[in-house]
Amino acid sequence: FPMPDIVIVEVGPRDGLQNNKRLIPAAEKIALIDLLSGAGFQRIEATSFVSPKWVPQMADAAEVMAGITRAPGVRYEVLTPNLKGYEAARAARADKASIFASASEGFSRANLNCTIAESLERYIPVMEAARADGIPVRGTVSVVTDCPFDGPTPPENVARVAAALRDLGCFEISLGDTIGQGRPETIDAMLAAVLEELPPEQLAGHYHDTAGRALQNIDASIARGLRVFDAAVGGLGGCPYAPGAEGNVATEKVAAHLAAQGFETGLDMALLQQAAAMAQGMRG
Ligand code: HMG
Ligand code: MG
Repeated sequence: FPMPDIVIVEVGPRDGLQNNKRLIPAAEKIALIDLLSGAGFQRIEATSFVSPKWVPQMADAAEVMAGITRAPGVRYEVLTPNLKGYEAARAARADKASIFASASEGFSRANLNCTIAESLERYIPVMEAARADGIPVRGTVSVVTDCPFDGPTPPENVARVAAALRDLGCFEISLGDTIGQGRPETIDAMLAAVLEELPPEQLAGHYHDTAGRALQNIDASIARGLRVFDAAVGGLGGCPYAPGAEGNVATEKVAAHLAAQGFETGLDMALLQQAAAMAQGMRG
C-alpha cells in the first residue's frame, strides 16, 4: 500500500457496532476486522474493554481480540475506561489503548459515571501501567463542540481536557464531535483553542455525521493542519450514552473525498465497499 499523507483510523468495529441493537456474534465482528485488515489501514479500533453492564455489545472484547488474524503493519487499538479495562486489553495483546474523557460534565457523568476530574484521576494508574508495558495510549475528548446535556461546549474546555490528557502521557488526542452537531466554524474555533496547547501532529478528528457535515468539518480540520481522522465503514455508529449520536462519518466517503482532493489515504476502495456492505448487513 502507498504511504498515506492522511491517516484514517478505522473505528467501525468499535464505535460503529457498540450501539447496535442486535447483539452481534463475535465471529461476525472478527470477520469484519479481518476484512478491514487487508484494506490498507495502519490502525483499526477493534473493540473496547468497558463494563458489559454499560455496553453489552462490547462484552466479547477478549474473544474478538483472540479471534482476529493480525495483519503485519496494522495496529489493533482498544478503548479502556479504567485499570480493569486496561489490564484486560494488555492480556488481549492490544497494540494501543485509548482513554476517553469528556469536555462537558454532563456527558462525563452519562458516559463514565464520574466527573471530568475523577476520570482524569482514574487514568493515572492506567498511564503508569501502559508506560511500564510500552503500550502507547491515545486520549479522546468527547462533545468537543456540542453536548446533548450541557449545550454548546466552550472551546477552552476542550483545550483544557486535551492538555490534561497530553500531560498524562497520551501520544495523540482524538477530538470527538460525539453527536455530529459541529459546523466548520465551531470546529475551527475549537481547534484554534486546542492548537494553543498541542501541535496538529498530535491531534485527530473524530466526527460523527449526524447532520451531514462531517466532511466539511474534516476539511476545516485539514486547513488547521490535522492529518489523522477516525471513520467507520458503512457510516455505522453511535454512542449509547449520547442521545442523537448516530453514524460515524463513513470511511469510504472520507477516502473518496480525500482522494478527490489529491490526498493519498493508502486505502483499497473496492475492499472498503465490501467492508461497508458487510458492516451494514450486520446492523440487523
Ligand atoms: P461504574 O458502574 O461507575 O463502575 O462504571 P464500577 O467500577 O462500579 O463497575 C460496574 C461494574 O462493571 C462492576 O461489575 C465492574 O467490575 C464492571 P460488578 O462488580 O457490578 O459485577 N467493570 C468492568 N467490567 C469489564 N471491563 C471493565 C470494567 N469496569 C468496570 N473495564 C465505567 C464506570 C467507566 C466502568 C462505565 O461507566 C463504563 O464502562 N463506561 C464506558 C461507556 C462506553 O463504553 N461508552 C462508549 C465509548 S465512548 C464513545 O463512544 C465516544 C468516542 O467515540 C468519541 C466521541 O464520539 O466523542 C470515543
Ligand atoms: Mg464516537
